[in-house]
Amino acid sequence: MRKLLYKSPYAFLLSFLLLQTSYADNDTTHDSIFTDAEVRRILSFGPWPSTIPADPGNEFSGLSTAEKIGEKLFSDTDLSGDKTLSCASCHQAKKGFSDKLPLAQGVQQHVRNTQGLLDVGMQRWFGWDGGTDSLWAATLRPMLSDIEMAGDISTIATRLKEKPSIFNSLTQSGKHRNPISLTDEELVVGAAKTIAAYMRTLRSGTTDFDRYYQALVNNDINGQRKYSAAAKRGLKLFIGDANCHVCHFGPNFSNGEFHDTGRPFFTSIGKVDPGRYSGIKRVRADPYNLAGKFNRTVEASEIRKTNSVKLVQDNFGQWRTPSLRNLSLTAPYMHDGSLNTLREVVDAYADIDMSRLHSKGESILRPLELTNSQRNDLVQFLQSLTEQ
Ligand code: HEC
Ligand code: HEC
Repeated sequence: MRKLLYKSPYAFLLSFLLLQTSYADNDTTHDSIFTDAEVRRILSFGPWPSTIPADPGNEFSGLSTAEKIGEKLFSDTDLSGDKTLSCASCHQAKKGFSDKLPLAQGVQQHVRNTQGLLDVGMQRWFGWDGGTDSLWAATLRPMLSDIEMAGDISTIATRLKEKPSIFNSLTQSGKHRNPISLTDEELVVGAAKTIAAYMRTLRSGTTDFDRYYQALVNNDINGQRKYSAAAKRGLKLFIGDANCHVCHFGPNFSNGEFHDTGRPFFTSIGKVDPGRYSGIKRVRADPYNLAGKFNRTVEASEIRKTNSVKLVQDNFGQWRTPSLRNLSLTAPYMHDGSLNTLREVVDAYADIDMSRLHSKGESILRPLELTNSQRNDLVQFLQSLTEQ
């Protein structure tokens, strides 16, 4: 079972290939706006919801008792040094588990935008720069970061020991609940793993796009008509002339990789945020990475992913391609929260200044000759990726 779950990141690829075959065999009916080839491409953005892989190294992943403890800890201010902040202070449920601020406000002013957490379990690198390689390590990071929650292992462990129900669950194992002794560090890692187990359950619902997808699969022409003409035109651009699908693909609209889209890398406090370049350094130096001793269920291939990542100059100014689901909940956009609306994002792509691209490799991006109404169509399409 676990093995299967681990393989599931590729499940969407498999379902895409299967759909492609079954689609070709069937006599399908669809709007004339799309060619058969375009419909096949659209079918690679589903089905939704897709499966969430287990959190590597996390023995609590998928256990409902752990998820419940994690849910409580998620809003517990005891995890921050001065007891003023919890995860939920910045990751607010009503805002797609983000905060609507351009830049996060922790114990110190952050230089990055708070990421939304819906469907976060689908990622394989975490943070805008991929500075952590598992969901549980991405949970521990803000707890111990001077900028975010400024906690430390011994303070957090002392506070966890004062919560009998949580402490007992973390320090008993097996059917007979045999007591196990944990160091402070193992206790805090255990708490982080329960929060990660909870975050894996944060999923977003069915969108207008998903209903259109389903109507295409079912050859349901009436269902297809319910999707607005503007969103369809936007989708046609997205998978065609505007080339967005090259990086934003699959059911989560992200290839999970790192790219440069020409955002400036000077931060509001006059420093440089090098993006993936620092993310690779961080993940390699992290004692809680997948190659470290705190992992229980990790597979060799996952450790290889972390050990084999190479630092190159082009990583400067690269960021993880975000999912495009739930965008209506998570403005402002980009790693630095510098674009306020989806129209601003579309304009930034359409009018991209090639001399602003830092890494030489991004030949995919180029200025797009889009009219005002084409830009609005793209926005309508992006809005159709949020649950209504
Ligand atoms: C001060 C606001 C703040 C607090 C408090 C905070 N976060 Fe975050 N969170 C952020 C920011 C900013 C990022 C992006 C960080 C980066 O790129 O390095 C982020 C990123 C993440 C990510 C990575 C998401 C992804 O898509 O890769 C996860 C997971 C996460 N936070 C979970 C948590 C948990 C769990 C807690 C509590 C233990 C927490 N955060 C506390 C602001 C916050
Ligand atoms: C070369 C890969 C690539 C291509 C092509 C691309 N994107 Fe992106 N996209 C990214 C990356 C990387 C980011 C994050 C950049 C950052 O944070 O500075 C991003 C960010 C975004 C965001 C902001 C999401 C958020 O949560 O902040 C939106 C919206 C978006 N892209 C839409 C599009 C559209 C529409 C197109 C086509 C016009 C497109 N992208 C083409 C890689 C790409």
